[in-house]
Amino acid sequence: MPPVAEQSTPRELASLIGPVDGLPGPRYAGLARRIRDLVTAGSLPAGHRLPAERELAAELDVSRVTVASAYRVLRDEGFATTRHGSGTVTELPAAGSRWLPPSNRPGVLDLAHAAPEAAPALVDAYAQAMAVLPSRLGEHGYATGGLPELRTAIAERFAARGLPTDPDQVVVTAGVGDATAVVLETLLQPGDRVLVEHPTYPGILGQVGAAGGRCTPVAVDAADPDALIRAADLAARQSSPRLAFVMPDFSNPTGARLSAAGRRRLAATLWQHGVLAVVDEVSAELHLDEGPLPPFAGSLPDAATVTVGGLSKAVWGGLRIGWIRTDAALAAQLGETLGRRQLSVGLLDQLAATILLGRLDEVLEQRRAQLRERRGVLLAELARLLPEWEAPVPAGGLSVWCRLPPGGSSAALAAGAAQHGLVLAEGRAFGTGHAFDDHLRLPFTRPADELRRAVALLAQVQAGLRTGTAGDGYPQPRTVV
Ligand SMILES: Cc1ncc(COP(=O)(O)O)c(C=O)c1O
Repeated sequence: MPPVAEQSTPRELASLIGPVDGLPGPRYAGLARRIRDLVTAGSLPAGHRLPAERELAAELDVSRVTVASAYRVLRDEGFATTRHGSGTVTELPAAGSRWLPPSNRPGVLDLAHAAPEAAPALVDAYAQAMAVLPSRLGEHGYATGGLPELRTAIAERFAARGLPTDPDQVVVTAGVGDATAVVLETLLQPGDRVLVEHPTYPGILGQVGAAGGRCTPVAVDAADPDALIRAADLAARQSSPRLAFVMPDFSNPTGARLSAAGRRRLAATLWQHGVLAVVDEVSAELHLDEGPLPPFAGSLPDAATVTVGGLSKAVWGGLRIGWIRTDAALAAQLGETLGRRQLSVGLLDQLAATILLGRLDEVLEQRRAQLRERRGVLLAELARLLPEWEAPVPAGGLSVWCRLPPGGSSAALAAGAAQHGLVLAEGRAFGTGHAFDDHLRLPFTRPADELRRAVALLAQVQAGLRTGTAGDGYPQPRTVV
């Protein structure tokens, strides 16, 4: 059980809550909703002790029953718990588990996964790797931490992006998610807090929970990416996190990108608070409009950040190759964790990845051209068929984070769409608690004709929901990438 980090005075909480008269619905329900929103937005961190009912009631000028009922709703929804000796303490509910319908069935459109098909260079890279393989078969075949030539190729890629790196600062992993899991397993103690962008990549929410940590969400806004810095500063003061998981380039799902100055400031803020930044670069080289920005890790000593990256989006999710970059001592420690878990990543995959890294500029150029075209199709179809949706143009990455019109629910849309064979990741998958049901992430990773069909289906489902003819209750995807 995480420690109780902070306690606000009744006056402090009342000023965060604001006027209760304007809250919609029964007063206790409006109050519960307001506190819940403060928790999901990160203004009231999980593990925060709420004031005693009587004191908050006096401050808000409502009855004690109103506050007691609001606290009960929060407990019922998983946003608060009662702890002996600590009163009522805020919590974030665990993400619900959802069944994954088979999305590779013929005719099923899968937009739950922001993952493009394999780059054409992949088959050739494996053919070349197969040609090299016989010369390696006399060896034992284990490459804990990564094949030296692959670590060199990864280090050279970092250096070419402006971040001088020695191969011994690199650990090869089985994908980016695996890299993050290794970092969490090595560095997180049960109960530790992790700052996460909000909305964020769903995988990190599950991974932090599995490692016994607690997420502290900090709001990310694609229209004002630098607001993240102010929010992170506040959250770091309030909840003393151990790690922060950040996606400076084309955050999943918003597509937000931190400016060059913004990433320097965020890095410095986290460093000042003693928070280690875990920088997810899965989309770092998927800039579609403007060129690359300096890597997040560049402005601080190497030990201040752990960068995780890989080939799953540039090349293919089926090629399970990722990496970790930090200072050499921490890299060695992380390599030990990896070695304990799985000894080594597959040798043939590592050989193919080494070849692909040698051709990465060409592979990325093709991928960016493909994503630009698909992004254009998706946005044009949304503007044509769902003009009341807000669909901000992301400058890179793999998806559009759509805001639904007032009253829209992405859970209802996803349920209705699944009945037509369109699999979606509903907005709530990207947040803690019940946040983001009014958003839907749409990846532009499928071919243009599939994107056109998907938007047409969404328009049909939305129309059905408005007239009350769409069904619901269809199971939702369990994994989202
Ligand atoms: C931000 C982010 N990190 C990590 C991953 C997982 O990457 P991998 O398939 O390399 O494990 C994804 C997959 O979509 C992602 O979006």
